[in-house]
Amino acid sequence: MRVLTGIQPSGKLHIGNYFGAMKPMIERQEKEELFTFIASYHALTSSKDSKLLAHYTHEAAIDYLSLGIDPTKTTFWIQSDVKEVLELYWILSKFTPLGLLERAHSYKDKVAKGIAPNHALFSYPILMAADILLFDTQLVPVGKDQVQHLEMTRDIAIRFNNEYGEIFTLPKHHVDEEVATIPGIDGEKMSKSYDNTIEIFMDEKSLQKRCNKVVTDSTPMGEPLLYEHCNVFALASLFLNTQEQEELRERYLSGKEGFGYFKKYLKELIWDAFATARNQREHYLKHPNEVRDILSMGAAKARTIAKIKMEQVRQAVGII
Ligand code: ADP
Ligand code: TRP
Repeated sequence: MRVLTGIQPSGKLHIGNYFGAMKPMIERQEKEELFTFIASYHALTSSKDSKLLAHYTHEAAIDYLSLGIDPTKTTFWIQSDVKEVLELYWILSKFTPLGLLERAHSYKDKVAKGIAPNHALFSYPILMAADILLFDTQLVPVGKDQVQHLEMTRDIAIRFNNEYGEIFTLPKHHVDEEVATIPGIDGEKMSKSYDNTIEIFMDEKSLQKRCNKVVTDSTPMGEPLLYEHCNVFALASLFLNTQEQEELRERYLSGKEGFGYFKKYLKELIWDAFATARNQREHYLKHPNEVRDILSMGAAKARTIAKIKMEQVRQAVGII
């Protein structure tokens, strides 16, 4: 099964991103044919700072590689390195009724948030359709907010296929209902928009400071602690197996240790869990050429497939 995901390079990754998106993706590469790219053209639609966009694009590549994207198993590239996607985007525009784009929730939400409604923002779903259809993608794992974009992709592909035959594979989407919403340090959904994240790649001191800020109740020292609604417990559990979670529950109930102790424990869990990734990241930061080579290799592989598909598409529509 060919699975494709696009990642917006939009800033420093946090634990919510890891458990909600990256870990499931990394697990997929063992079982499926995974295509993953950094959606730099999409990020451009809401970028205000060119240096920052370039920096985040490079950083996203390094972070994903460090956390386990294996370029020998996964085709991994930067969107802008496979230009065929822009040609397909233009051709697909002809098969996209304006009404379809006007109904896009994501576009309306962004405009409501004050982002200037330019054409790139409006036609964002067509570029996303091109990303997907260019590679005969069968499955696209997405968050709920992206489901409508997948429906639009299928709609566009059907219109094209109705006119020219079965050129495009109709992709399915998959929303992983099992992936829990990871709480932030205030107990709300962890999100960089809420300033409540714990970043994956913090230095040790800052990580401890962040863990100290996790909101808890005010049970005094020496009394049993309630674990059910405890944010420290919820975050620590992400890194523990069932038996270890049980042991942690018992330690909460014993009342021997206070929240300060458990916040130190949480920091240790996070610090240890990402030790290998941190070393890997240090390595890639020192060897940008290695990262560039990996991305070029991925782009070359993706381009080989893209070129074949574009030949079929051009021939179908009469572009010679
Ligand atoms: P943010 O909310 O910090 O801006 P993004 O919207 O960039 O995060 O999310 C990137 C990916 O990480 C998405 O697939 C999203 O579903 C996942 N994700 C983000 N925050 C969480 C969370 N708190 N719990 C689970 N998954 C999350
Ligand atoms: N729009 C997606 C998001 O914001 C990113 C993306 C771009 C994407 N192209 C894609 C996701 C193709 C899946 C497939 O998360």
